[in-house]
Amino acid sequence: MAAPMSSRNRICFFILWSCCLFTAHAYIEGLYCGLENCYDILGVTRDSSKSEVTKAYRKLAKKWHPDMHKKAKAKEEANQMFLKIANAYEILRDEEQRNDYDYMLDNPDEYYAHYYRYYRTRVAPKVDVRLVIAVTITVISVVQYYGAWSNYNSALNYLCKDQKYRIRATEIAKSEGLISANKKRKGKSKEEIREEEEATIRKIIEEKMDIRGGYSKPKVTDVLWVQLVLLPYHTALYIAWWARWVWRFNIKQEAYGDEEKLHIIRKFMGLSQAQFDAQEDHEIEEYLEQELWIKDNFTEWKQQKEEEMKSKLAESARYKMYRRYMKKGGAGQISFGPD
Ligand SMILES: *[C@@H]1O[C@H](CO)[C@@H](O)[C@H](O)[C@H]1NC(C)=O
Repeated sequence: MAAPMSSRNRICFFILWSCCLFTAHAYIEGLYCGLENCYDILGVTRDSSKSEVTKAYRKLAKKWHPDMHKKAKAKEEANQMFLKIANAYEILRDEEQRNDYDYMLDNPDEYYAHYYRYYRTRVAPKVDVRLVIAVTITVISVVQYYGAWSNYNSALNYLCKDQKYRIRATEIAKSEGLISANKKRKGKSKEEIREEEEATIRKIIEEKMDIRGGYSKPKVTDVLWVQLVLLPYHTALYIAWWARWVWRFNIKQEAYGDEEKLHIIRKFMGLSQAQFDAQEDHEIEEYLEQELWIKDNFTEWKQQKEEEMKSKLAESARYKMYRRYMKKGGAGQISFGPD
């Protein structure tokens, strides 16, 4: 089904794109001393000891203290310098921050790591980690749910435009009296009647058509938050299911029921439950008829399918060649080649 770019794709695209934008700079605006070097601001080097840094800071702070300057313009400039010096000193006097800063100078391309390290000491102690995790899960859940709806809506739009489904939906609508065969109704413009019919057709398609697989109607239970809350419950169910399987089929050697047979076939095919369910009913019946839960039968069946597929492809390629040949004039053409 030709759906427009799903929202999940859009998000991946955005992330990739934004990664490319961030190229490596040794200095990052807004972190530490911004685009300047903290050591340069204080006039010290990376080898300077803590007491040397303090000494340099005191000297500069005295020089640039706003109270030492009388004229308004000079006072303003001094104020700026004073703040810059204080900020640089704040970073270099703290061992942990100085280490983080040195790390940034040595590893300019680890862009995200610098943000993380910078904010770790400033913001992280104030914010509960649990809150951060909760917010992350919420964002993922919202994206999932929104993405599922947009997939579902594009599937629905596709079906509403498809003539085959439209005709079926219109028939149902007529038989249920939702659309009157007589198009004239009082007090309504043609436009309104058409819109109403369109809405009815959409509603019927939504109700009667069984959209399965990745485009199925979104369920709240598929969202990450709900999944996490239900995790212990699902785990317990799974263990119970597995224990029952071992007990009935491995120990007591009972014969498989249809449900078990389909489960084994699905595992052989490597499909998820949603993918498997998205298949047509007659296909699934065929699997049971072919006894595909027996490994040998499945292997044979798979080989056969692959060969069929190959010959179909070859046929269509041959057909294309034939059409090209006919287009050029077919058998009637005069050929001067050695052909
Ligand atoms: C599946 O395999 C079993 C045992 O190998 C065999 O008896 C049976 O005929 C096979 N079924 C089909 C449909 O080929």
